[in-house]
Amino acid sequence: MKALVLSGGSGTRLRPFSYSMPKQLIPIANKPVLEHVLCNVRDLGVTEIGVIVGDRAAQIEAVIGDGSALGVEIVYIPQEEPLGLAHCVELARPFLGDDDFVMYLGDNMLPEGVERIAEQFASERPVAQVVVHKVSDPRAFGVAELAPDGRVERLVEKPQEPKSDLALIGVYFFTPAIHKAVAAIEPSARGELEITDAIQWLVANGDEVKASEYEGYWKDTGRIEDVLECNQKLLGDLKSAVKGEVDAASTLIGTVVVEAGAKVIGSRIEGPAVIGAGSVVTGSLIGPYTSIGKGVRLTGASIEYSIALDGATVSHVRSLHSSIIGRSATVGSSERNTRHHRLVVGDHARVEVAA
Ligand code: G1P
Repeated sequence: MKALVLSGGSGTRLRPFSYSMPKQLIPIANKPVLEHVLCNVRDLGVTEIGVIVGDRAAQIEAVIGDGSALGVEIVYIPQEEPLGLAHCVELARPFLGDDDFVMYLGDNMLPEGVERIAEQFASERPVAQVVVHKVSDPRAFGVAELAPDGRVERLVEKPQEPKSDLALIGVYFFTPAIHKAVAAIEPSARGELEITDAIQWLVANGDEVKASEYEGYWKDTGRIEDVLECNQKLLGDLKSAVKGEVDAASTLIGTVVVEAGAKVIGSRIEGPAVIGAGSVVTGSLIGPYTSIGKGVRLTGASIEYSIALDGATVSHVRSLHSSIIGRSATVGSSERNTRHHRLVVGDHARVEVAA
């Protein structure tokens, strides 16, 4: 079996971050979402992975490389325009050949893994098998209507009046029969070739399409709130490891990771929290549920339930909560200007101050 991981798209819901970085590189517990996804695929025993990339290909390739660091072999497949998930399958046809494959959306997190579902697909080998999860509002997703035996009776993309609460959550198992379905469908109202429509084409053709429910934690990391929530969830499963320097005047409480080359000076770190390589934390209160990236400087800061990306600086600001601070962004009080707030905030950024 091969894998096809989709890592294109524009990520408009993740602005302002998605202006400068692909949404799949947003870090969750200090590891890009895409890396979590690739590790999940590797855990299925799949090592040949095609990764669909859009106009942010260079950044993705710089971070993930050829996959050897993760124990997989990656082939990058460029997609010039985001024309839909089924369009990605069409583009990947030369890579996929006539192999079975798992398709995985590069911004969907299923930390409990899908090994059991992969085994079921390999042993029963229906024409296609989709992974579904109960959601409270299915209208934003592809929705599956199932027979009692788990056979899919109908799939609808983003229905206004969903007939079930089972959403497609971005992981699909396919036999090569999917290629004839992809070739047969037309673009949807949003102008995309929908994978949901291709699978529904198989159902209508009388092919056996199965659904398996994933009952673990799932998150489409498409919005800021989702990223923060998912970060909390993954930090909750962290194991302590202190490789950097922590001075005698500092206190670590609970599960804390201090990566190699990081320095913690006169600070209190309340886990779960991770301090990335090369970061320097001085006179600060960090955590709980906070991820600090690489090369971050925190001085006289207090920050909880938050994420600071690589190279960020926070100085002399207290009570930061539920915040994401972008790469090399600076948040701090000014020594020259004590009377005013001064903001240099990029397009679609969001600043919420305490009332
Ligand atoms: C896509 C699929 C949809 C699926 C969702 C999961 O939606 O079209 O069927 O439920 O991913 O995240 P999109 O994110 O493109 O709106």
